[in-house]
Amino acid sequence: MFKFVILLGTCFSQKLFGNCNRRTTFQYYLVKFLILSSIWRIFNQNIKILNQFFHRITNFISYFFKAETIYGIDSPVLYEFFKTVLDDRRVFYAFSDIDHLRNELKKNTTRIKKTDFGTGINHSVTTVSDVVKTSSITKFKGELLFRLVNWFKPNNIIELGTNLGLSAAYMASACRDTTLISIEGDKSLAYLASNNIKQLELSNVNIVLGTFEKELSQILLNQPGTELFYIDGNHNKNSTIEYTKKIIQNCKNKYLLIFDDIYWSKDMSDAWLEIQEFKEFNFVIDLYFWGLAGKLPTLKAPIRKVLIPTRYKFWKAGFFR
Ligand SMILES: C[S@@+](CC[C@H](N)C(=O)[O-])C[C@H]1O[C@@H](n2cnc3c(N)ncnc32)[C@H](O)[C@@H]1O
Repeated sequence: MFKFVILLGTCFSQKLFGNCNRRTTFQYYLVKFLILSSIWRIFNQNIKILNQFFHRITNFISYFFKAETIYGIDSPVLYEFFKTVLDDRRVFYAFSDIDHLRNELKKNTTRIKKTDFGTGINHSVTTVSDVVKTSSITKFKGELLFRLVNWFKPNNIIELGTNLGLSAAYMASACRDTTLISIEGDKSLAYLASNNIKQLELSNVNIVLGTFEKELSQILLNQPGTELFYIDGNHNKNSTIEYTKKIIQNCKNKYLLIFDDIYWSKDMSDAWLEIQEFKEFNFVIDLYFWGLAGKLPTLKAPIRKVLIPTRYKFWKAGFFR
């Protein structure tokens, strides 16, 4: 395939610069090199995107077939989980305030310099509007996060990856007496997030500027026994497993870790496969867009399930179980 691309590029450049005389040989080879390397880069990038796309699609199909609704479960804990989290359609007051903030951010074309920890690209220039559209939690997931916090009632929350503070806002509004510490490595985003949290009048959020690698251990020491963790940054296998091990060392007998985008890439799916096998967890739920893993002291037997809100598989109403 590579040879084919090179050949195509060579033919194309020869057609364009076929009349060059010897004096321009250097320019000719330089332009040829630039054209070929651009073609190769575009080809490589697209293959990566296509691969990721197929990975997500195939995993979604497999998830969808396996997923159970409220009619497929017999545990009282899961029944409660469906009723108050997955199938709950109540609209809470906090939602409209966060929606309003999200709409304002979408219109904000202020340019910011952003460090992308995921790809290692330093200081790419983007706009607030682009950040909220591409990296912030969606309305669907945000409202589900609110319900999940409401159901779990954690003593404290630690978030890895604040971004503009929207996921923090959903969690903090669900439990206003609970302290939420959110870690963000990018200075501009941490600053914008603090302003957004202030605008929502949420006094229980503390944004820490620094990398997860540097800040997490100290925060865990200062706040032992934290019960809820939202891990939404640095989506790669080794880091995700490393954070998980660090976190569970500092947990007591009730805790829950929410992993965002577990099927984002092959690497993240491998991380999720490994995390599910940790012997410390007795509650493991696959929701496709999130993986939940934790320890619930009330459970008599471990739970390991693939679940979907009942409305997305409404025909599974218990008739053909
Ligand atoms: C997907 S965004 C988080 C979105 C946010 N939780 C929300 O839903 O509104 C991930 C964030 O994590 C930050 N991040 C990624 N890797 C990091 C690292 N190693 N240390 C600190 N921050 C990091 C990025 O700067 C980015 O803002």
